Amino acid sequence: MAELTESVSYERDGDVAIITVDNPPVNALSWHVRQGLVDGMAQAVADDSAAVVLICAGRTFIAGADISEFGGEAKGPSLQDAQSAMEDAPMPVVAAIHGTALGGGLEVALCAHYRVALASAKFGLPEVNLGLLPGAGGTQRLPRLVGVPKALDMVTSGRHIGSAEAAEGGLVDEVIDGDHDALRAAALAFAARAVANNMPLAKVRERNELVESVRGDSAPFDAIRAKIARKARGFLAPEYNIRCIEAAVNLPFDEGLKEERRLFMELMTGPQSAAQRYYFFAERAANKVPDVPKDTPVADVRRVGVLGAGTMGGGIAMNFANVGIPVTIVERDQESLDRGLGVVRKNYERSRSTTPEQVEQRMSLITGSTDQADFGDCDLVIEAVFEDMDLKQQVFAKLDEVCKPDAILASNTSYLNIDQIASATSRPSQVIGMHFFSPANVMKLLENVRGAESSPTTIATAMTIGKQIGKVAVLAGNCDGFIGNRMLARRRVEADRLILEGATPEQVDRVLYDFGLPMGPFAMSDLAGLDIGWKAETSSGSTVREIMCESGRRGQKNGRGYYTYDPETRAPTPDPEVVDMIRDFAVAKGIEQREVTDQEVLERCLYPMVNEGAKILDEGYAIRGSDVDVVWVNGYGWPVYRGGPMYWADSVGLAEVADRIRHYADTLGGSHWQISPLLARLADEGGKLHQHANG
Ligand SMILES: NC(=O)c1ccc[n+]([C@@H]2O[C@H](COP(=O)([O-])OP(=O)(O)OC[C@H]3O[C@@H](n4cnc5c(N)ncnc54)[C@H](O)[C@@H]3O)[C@@H](O)[C@H]2O)c1
Repeated sequence: MAELTESVSYERDGDVAIITVDNPPVNALSWHVRQGLVDGMAQAVADDSAAVVLICAGRTFIAGADISEFGGEAKGPSLQDAQSAMEDAPMPVVAAIHGTALGGGLEVALCAHYRVALASAKFGLPEVNLGLLPGAGGTQRLPRLVGVPKALDMVTSGRHIGSAEAAEGGLVDEVIDGDHDALRAAALAFAARAVANNMPLAKVRERNELVESVRGDSAPFDAIRAKIARKARGFLAPEYNIRCIEAAVNLPFDEGLKEERRLFMELMTGPQSAAQRYYFFAERAANKVPDVPKDTPVADVRRVGVLGAGTMGGGIAMNFANVGIPVTIVERDQESLDRGLGVVRKNYERSRSTTPEQVEQRMSLITGSTDQADFGDCDLVIEAVFEDMDLKQQVFAKLDEVCKPDAILASNTSYLNIDQIASATSRPSQVIGMHFFSPANVMKLLENVRGAESSPTTIATAMTIGKQIGKVAVLAGNCDGFIGNRMLARRRVEADRLILEGATPEQVDRVLYDFGLPMGPFAMSDLAGLDIGWKAETSSGSTVREIMCESGRRGQKNGRGYYTYDPETRAPTPDPEVVDMIRDFAVAKGIEQREVTDQEVLERCLYPMVNEGAKILDEGYAIRGSDVDVVWVNGYGWPVYRGGPMYWADSVGLAEVADRIRHYADTLGGSHWQISPLLARLADEGGKLHQHANG
């Protein structure tokens, strides 16, 4: 076997050439892989090979581009060079596929004349998830094999398909059961057959039937646009992927390729993909804790306890049952337990992705009880009772008594002091915050909160288990509201001020929605219920929220809040009565109402969050700026195409942000406008919040 480059080797089996890519961990298309493909094909031509088999070592076929090369200087041949060498080869080229043929990997496979794959192999074009599109012919070749509707689905969702599905449309010519050796043997046999039977050099680019049959028909494009409208709001890449497939349908192949290239370059050099690529790495970095090394022992969590089966407890329990970890859930009485478990069952039944058998299987993993003593065999217990320090301390003292000595005790508190909670136990080193977001079975974020005494094993366990249940775990320090809610609270102050000054709730919400957030603060309040923490006895009409509650406005639950809700559709309509109430309240307070611009709304809602994020970072409650971004993207729906609040502030320019914060500090006042020393310093030095890291 000859080494062509550091990652590609060449050998012959009879008169068939075998090119093997070995670029761990995922055989990404680094420059030396591209070089090896070009050299390997040239060698096969030079030694008159009858056919070529392209196969990969390790756990997968080429799984995509080498994204560490993005934005860097181009080195070695382009991917297109490698693809042309294969597609235009004078002998049949067979790709042997195992693992995942994704992105550039699939685009390479599409330039082989034939594809043989293990039954377990997966195929996909996930570029859309990085704000991109497959820029090496994927959008032009894929629909020629799988048809336009499926190609549209795949490029807009990034979804993978299996070998069986791939074989239906001719994306795979032969599916093999067995291991890597069987795949290699089958690919060689296929190649020999192709030679013996003089099979044509089937070029995907020349197969026009499936694209021509859709020419002039806008239906599949209208359908996909309607289907993804909600999820894709604000994103450029899904639409650009669709346009590429339109080009595949309506233009000759080479023209389509050009259009794909043009749109690819626009995305690649644009701000959205830059933000999404940054975010990709941010999420991976979040799992690393500098003072908790990789080899820190992690507790073996075989059974989890959940205390409280309310809104959060039920959802938290589902996360563990979903991955096969048995859960004991304890409530204060049978009625609350039955209600809580009923909600869990209903959530499973409503979910389209769970079969009736799975519902039963998962429910069977959840054992209800009204006695905390039943936590005796749990390795981790997560508390989700009411947000009340006395109660939390009381239940933690009890947990400490009934749980195994080595069990880890976690609290799902949103704001309360973890150290104070831990002090109620004899094991503060085994206490940690595990802050899930609502709905806990859906939201990806897990904000773990380290107490002063949380041990490395406790922290490592919380981070590891988070990953195991499919969450993105971020480690926060123990400050009021931790990372996410501490920042959110500052936005709230300004949103409430803005409506007194003349902005309407609808305007504030619209500006933030248009920015890309799922909803603004007033829609959010209506959803949560305006009367959370409100008591009629003590209400004194001293805030807009109080007067709203006093006038019977409770939010979505009774159809009236900052908005009026349609009883059927729950669609919100701005309510002039609310605007009047706010104005009267402002007048009574001596606040003059004026026209507030959208730009002011945006700055006053988002800059205090940025400022607070910088303070959190500076005070060491977040490990790195990018962690703050991960919290906001996964926990609060910050649009990933804007990277996160830290990254976004950097992209606006910290000097500009600092300038505006100082302006509002002078004109409006309030501690949340006092500029973060870190932000001020980075603004002066030309530094970046999203790159700032502690430890
Ligand atoms: N709701 C959210 O959006 C959200 C998000 C993140 C964190 N949290 C936090 O999660 C915790 C729970 O919030 P929630 O919204 O699920 O509240 P909830 O009122 O829906 O549920 C609390 C449950 O705890 C039960 N409970 C109370 N005392 C108990 C005891 N001594 N033993 C056993 N069970 C007891 C109650 O019966 C109730 O079912 C709070 O600390 C809250 O701050 C809530």
